[in-house]
This record gives sequence, structure tokens and C-alpha cells, in this order.
Amino acid sequence: MDIDQHYSDHMEETTLLDQLHQRYPEGPTLYQLAPIDQLHIGGIKASEKLLQQLELLQPGRILEIGSGAGGLMRMISSRSSAEIIGIDITHRFNALNSAITQLARIPASPVITCDAQQLPFANNSFDCIIFQHSLLNIPDTARCLQECRRVLNNEGSLLLHEVLEGPAPLRMHYPVPWARTADQSHLISYTALYELLQASGFRLKRAENWSEDALQWRQRQAAKEKENEKEKKPEAPQISPSQILGEDFNKMGPNVIANLTEGAVEVWQLSCIAKG
Ligand SMILES: C[S@@+](CC[C@H](N)C(=O)[O-])C[C@H]1O[C@@H](n2cnc3c(N)ncnc32)[C@H](O)[C@@H]1O
Repeated sequence: MDIDQHYSDHMEETTLLDQLHQRYPEGPTLYQLAPIDQLHIGGIKASEKLLQQLELLQPGRILEIGSGAGGLMRMISSRSSAEIIGIDITHRFNALNSAITQLARIPASPVITCDAQQLPFANNSFDCIIFQHSLLNIPDTARCLQECRRVLNNEGSLLLHEVLEGPAPLRMHYPVPWARTADQSHLISYTALYELLQASGFRLKRAENWSEDALQWRQRQAAKEKENEKEKKPEAPQISPSQILGEDFNKMGPNVIANLTEGAVEVWQLSCIAKG
């Protein structure tokens, strides 16, 4: 199955947009949108931490790769004057991203449907590139990083908030939010990524292992989801990641906890500079 089908096949965008509109007629806030537009381990809190790194850099022109439903793009647009462009291989995600931005009354930013392994931009087009749980789906990491280096200015920044392969990759449980089966997941180890970054023209400036926080966040989410399930009211259905990922989401959450606990995956934040 192609990766865009993994994200599109269960997407209920019409129902989701109707519900958002009915529930938040004045426009949803970034926090109200988080269950469906912050589709990474750590949610909006992890994005806040990532944006602290971005604020230190003050880039003028940013590219987000694998922008999904657009949660991070809207956070950036609503708190800085930077120009942000999103790209994603899943066209229906891009349409949903734009529709939510309009509903939330946030100025629109361009979103382009394309493959991160072949970026449709000229050399030296951006000051910063961000990946948030999207490198994990990309089969040719080296090619993708080379493309990033090509379109980044010298001394530009590459920020990665990614799931990497842990010390026990054979203990991996599927489905996970980024893959129903092993062929859709393209995790690499921290060491392999470090070497590919160097070889692609990047210097690592800072690396933090966020796995412990990620595990605690997922455990808190699981408790909330259980609570919501108990209080389920048919007249006011919950806005939930299952409206994007389908009923398999009920298995994906517990599998993320198992994968983090058993060391199959780790969550890292890396900041790199494009060597001149
Ligand atoms: C786990 S989702 C994360 C979405 C978003 N970054 C977030 O954190 O909410 C991964 C995203 O990467 C996109 N993606 C996967 N492979 C891609 C590729 N080769 N080029 C561009 N986008 C890709 C998917 O369509 C999906 O939107």
C-alpha cells in the first residue's frame, strides 16, 4: 500500500470539518485542533518545545516537510512573521490543512503535494527546514537529506523531531500511527542518521533524546482516551485521531507505548546547520 493511502483511506475530512465548524463556530483554537492536527508523539507540547528552537533561529523562509494536517504550520503562522511553505505527499492532507487554516481564521500558507525525495524548489530557497515525524516514512533518507541541503541556504537550519530506530528494532509492534505494516515504516538509528547528515552536508549542533517524555505523554493520552470512551455522548462525538487514521488507531496508541517501552523506537530532536 502506498503511504498516501495509509493516511487517506480512513480520513473522514468532511465529517471532521463539519464537526469542527459546529463545535467551534468562532473558529477552533490551536489547542482544540491538536487531537487531529498534531499527529506525532508528544502532541502540541512537543511542538511548543520545537518552536523554542525555531524562535532562537528567527528564519525568514521555512519549509515544513510532511506537514500533514498542518498543526505546526498554523502555530508558526500565528506567532511569527516568517513565511512558511508545507509539502506533503498525501494530497488529501494538504486539502484538509488548507480547510482547517481557513476555519481557524489563520492567514493561509502555501501547501504543495510532492515527494520530499524530489523537492520542487530552486537551490538555496529556504533558511530553515523542519521535519516532524515525516522522515520516518521516507524510503531514501540519503536522497531526501541531499535534497534538503540543496534547497537550504548555506548556514541554514535543519530541525528534526523524529522517531528513530531504537536498540531493539525486532520488537516492533504494528500498526503504528505512521505505518500499518513494516514496509511503510523507514526508521533509521541515531548513528546511521548522524552519518547521513554529515555525508549530506550538515553539521549536528544539538541532539536530545525525548523518548521518556514521549512515553509519558502517550500514557497520559491513553488515560484520557479511556475516560472519553466512558463518557461518549452520541450527540457530541469526540474529535479524534481515529477520524484520520481509522479504527486501527485503537491499536496504534498501545503499540507506540510498547515500542517505546521495549526499545524498538526512540524519539529524538536534532538541530543541524547546512555547511557552507
Ligand atoms: C506521521 S505524519 C506527521 C504529520 C505532521 N508532521 C504532524 O506531525 O502532525 C507523516 C507525514 O509525512 C508525509 N509524508 C510521508 N512520506 C512523504 C514523502 N515522501 N514526501 C512528503 N511527505 C511525506 C505523510 O503524508 C504524512 O502527512
